[in-house]
Amino acid sequence: MRLIVRQDYEEVASYVAYYVKERINQFQPTHDRPFVLGLATGSSPILVYHKLVDFYAAGQVSFENVVTFNTDEYVGLPKDHPQSYHTFMWNHLFKHVNIKKENVHILDGNANNLDEECRKFEAEIHKLGGIELFLGGIGPDGHIAFNEPGSSLTSRTRVKTLAYETIIANARFFGGDISRVPKLALTVGVATVMDAREVMIVITGAHKSLALAKCVEEGVNHMWTVSAIQMHPKGLIVCDEDATLELHVKTVKYFKSIEHVHHSIIGPHNLGLQGNLLRNMVDTNQAAKRRRRLMLQSLLNDEDENLEDEEEEEAKRAATAAVEEAGKKRKRKASPPSLKLESTKDIDVSGAATFLDKFLHEGVAIHAANNTIAAQLHQLHQGLREEKKRRIRQQEKQ
Ligand code: GLP
Repeated sequence: MRLIVRQDYEEVASYVAYYVKERINQFQPTHDRPFVLGLATGSSPILVYHKLVDFYAAGQVSFENVVTFNTDEYVGLPKDHPQSYHTFMWNHLFKHVNIKKENVHILDGNANNLDEECRKFEAEIHKLGGIELFLGGIGPDGHIAFNEPGSSLTSRTRVKTLAYETIIANARFFGGDISRVPKLALTVGVATVMDAREVMIVITGAHKSLALAKCVEEGVNHMWTVSAIQMHPKGLIVCDEDATLELHVKTVKYFKSIEHVHHSIIGPHNLGLQGNLLRNMVDTNQAAKRRRRLMLQSLLNDEDENLEDEEEEEAKRAATAAVEEAGKKRKRKASPPSLKLESTKDIDVSGAATFLDKFLHEGVAIHAANNTIAAQLHQLHQGLREEKKRRIRQQEKQ
């Protein structure tokens, strides 16, 4: 398993979006051999999706031959409900790219026979030869999809009862009214995710640091279902600095050093799978190479070669500018997806509930400005868990 640590959510999203784009492009999908991509909902992948939309708008990736399978969907919620995962996926990604409607697979939580719907979903994945890359997120309790703590690590797509804590957590999407939150969901199983040829999990924010530590530093455990990634031959976690809060410094340093060594030996042919950092590194290598060539050219007075280099550079600059321009257009349309928290001084534990509810689960990711703020935010989140338990006890008394 690899752990990639980036400074903040923005950098994580760039890395992941770039990675997905490159994987699709390198696969060279066709109608008969599509790229099968597993996708998740939640705030973690939002910026990744927006960046993929930018790549598409800049002509750098096509979804024409991409087939998708989503992790989960609520049972009984109309497809067009603002909180359905159907709505989420179309709003954040599908309607902005050239994906074919028939290539999108999202479980139907209104099917007459839910078990049959789950069986069909698994069969469809199988028919397409399995999932190439599964992009997922986790809940603060380490769940992937809706595989709540205690889910079997060999589970398949099925109907799942939501944990009480998840129902309470999701009440924010339903006007704070627990009774309106669906109590059941259809979800892919842990094994469905782990069957993918590659699994990539996005973990950001201090509130997920405990789950990350359990997943990376402790054993495979059904109470933290994401930990199943330890058994995957090609598992990759991309996290931000905030999420590393509960990891040992030694662990973080270890994975960072692995990335460094990996970059230095893997070579430019794998550039596309290494995200922007390697790209920058190779760019630097290329710059050094270019300097040497220029020196040689000036000695040999070969101006044509120099011209070619400049054209290559120009093409690269144009490609980057096109993505930036697409991003600016998207930003003009969309609300900002993340919030940089500079101070926690005005937030107490009960205020944290409102604060975290407002931003964390409304598609806006919170990122601490520095480690002190991250630690405070983490504490607030712990306090919030206690506060939730208190609320549950209070509700049970009533
Ligand atoms: C829900 C979804 C998961 C998702 C998780 C994390 O539980 N069922 O698929 O990974 O939320 O959401 P967020 O990224 O908003 O923290």
